Amino acid sequence: MPPFDHNRTPLFDAMVALAESRKVSFHTPGHKSGKGISTRFRKFVGPKVFSIDLTCLDEVDSLQKPRGVIREAQELAADIYNADQSFFLVNGTSGGNQAMILSTLNPGEQVAVTRILHKSVVSGMIMTDCRPVFIPLHRSDKTSLLLNDRTADIVKTLDQNPDIRTLFLTSPNYYGVTVNLEKIVEEAHRRNVRVLLDEAHGPHLHFHESLPMSAMNADVDMCVQSTHKIIGGMTQASILHVRKNRIDIGRLSTALRYLQTTSPSYILMASLDLARMQMATEGKKLLGKALELARRGREKIRKIPGLTCIDRAEVKSLSLGDNDLDETKLTVGVSGIGLTGYQVSQRLNLEFGIQVEMADLMHVLVIVSIGDHRDDIDRLVFALERIAGSPGTKTSIDEHSYAQAPYLLNPIRMPPRTAYFSAQEYVPLEDSEGATSADIVTVYPPGIPLMIPGELITRDVLDYLLIMRETGATLDGLDPSNQHIKTVLPGH
Ligand SMILES: Cc1ncc(COP(=O)(O)O)c(C=O)c1O
Repeated sequence: MPPFDHNRTPLFDAMVALAESRKVSFHTPGHKSGKGISTRFRKFVGPKVFSIDLTCLDEVDSLQKPRGVIREAQELAADIYNADQSFFLVNGTSGGNQAMILSTLNPGEQVAVTRILHKSVVSGMIMTDCRPVFIPLHRSDKTSLLLNDRTADIVKTLDQNPDIRTLFLTSPNYYGVTVNLEKIVEEAHRRNVRVLLDEAHGPHLHFHESLPMSAMNADVDMCVQSTHKIIGGMTQASILHVRKNRIDIGRLSTALRYLQTTSPSYILMASLDLARMQMATEGKKLLGKALELARRGREKIRKIPGLTCIDRAEVKSLSLGDNDLDETKLTVGVSGIGLTGYQVSQRLNLEFGIQVEMADLMHVLVIVSIGDHRDDIDRLVFALERIAGSPGTKTSIDEHSYAQAPYLLNPIRMPPRTAYFSAQEYVPLEDSEGATSADIVTVYPPGIPLMIPGELITRDVLDYLLIMRETGATLDGLDPSNQHIKTVLPGH
């Protein structure tokens, strides 16, 4: 087969050609190439974008059954990412995580799962009725930062549960900390276990040698990447990549057909086609610049009295060489200036017009990407210097509370699906110790569930949740007043 030409963008080209042919449309979308769209909308974004807001037509192929330009665009993605097959996703990595689970696990089957999981993994488990065996969460005593899973803990979990055939991990985590994929995949495959990876935060890793190893290069069996989070995809646009040996492609295609909308946005799919072309043709240069900016920012932030910004060497040393860091993520520790991450994030926004990816009790997280410039980094450093120099009202929150966050090995009382479909009642949070959670409860960000349906509500998780509620963190999974939690009705 001739080598793939990665300058090509078959889907986008077909969309433009169709738009320029000016055919009369008696099909969806009802705005008919923008002629029926609200004038305010058209004035702001311009008319052209509506001409490529298309539906499944012969010229532009169908995501549900790709045979033409979508198939070609997916083949180009598979080629560049070193996958056997790739699938475009229009419901983010959330939909991809669900599809990975629905296509590999059966009702009642056990799966070894990281506790650093996104809630879409839990919903996938509820759909399939598979049974999670969680890998013990690891946190270094020397830092409040959540590291990622350790190879030894994963291997131990697999050896203690020899019937498990599927391992599900997240890498990088939200803070850019990766696992030792090469070693883990080798250990898993030796035990005839397939490895599924939520690589939402890693669509760029493949394109620069200074970044940690990407999933498909480490021989992971299937992974999903949020192309929209870090590189040029538009929001919601993700890609799922597969190695065929341990994955039933037919079952995966069925799961994707069931889970994805039958009206996928062509604009989102075109953004995947173009993002692949951009990364293939100039990814190394663009990411090199992003890395340079991130390193410049990290170096300067580390010099600001009271602030920290963990680097690659520290992550490696804290994890005894097992974890690594994507340096484009800057995790700025702020407890040394007596403020919470939430306070610093708010001041950056209100006083300096800077919006960060997220804040937690002790950090703000800054994502540096191919869209940033030196001025942006310098503005961030300037703002952090100002805030650190005049921190104002300090937090009343005990700075160690984050470090005391639970290790999330909550006893599992019933499978997630059983709890989800059980009779349920809301109880006041304060009185819920000893009950069984019926919902996913998450402190957002970073969005790692503190409880999933079927888990016992323990004192330490409850105490942590109460502290986080006091700090003003967003609690997902409680009632709108944040006072009540959904539990399984006793006796059910
Ligand atoms: C680790 C992880 N996985 C999956 C997701 C969901 O990805 P998406 O927003 O593309 O659906 C997120 C979103 O924040 C995430 O952080």
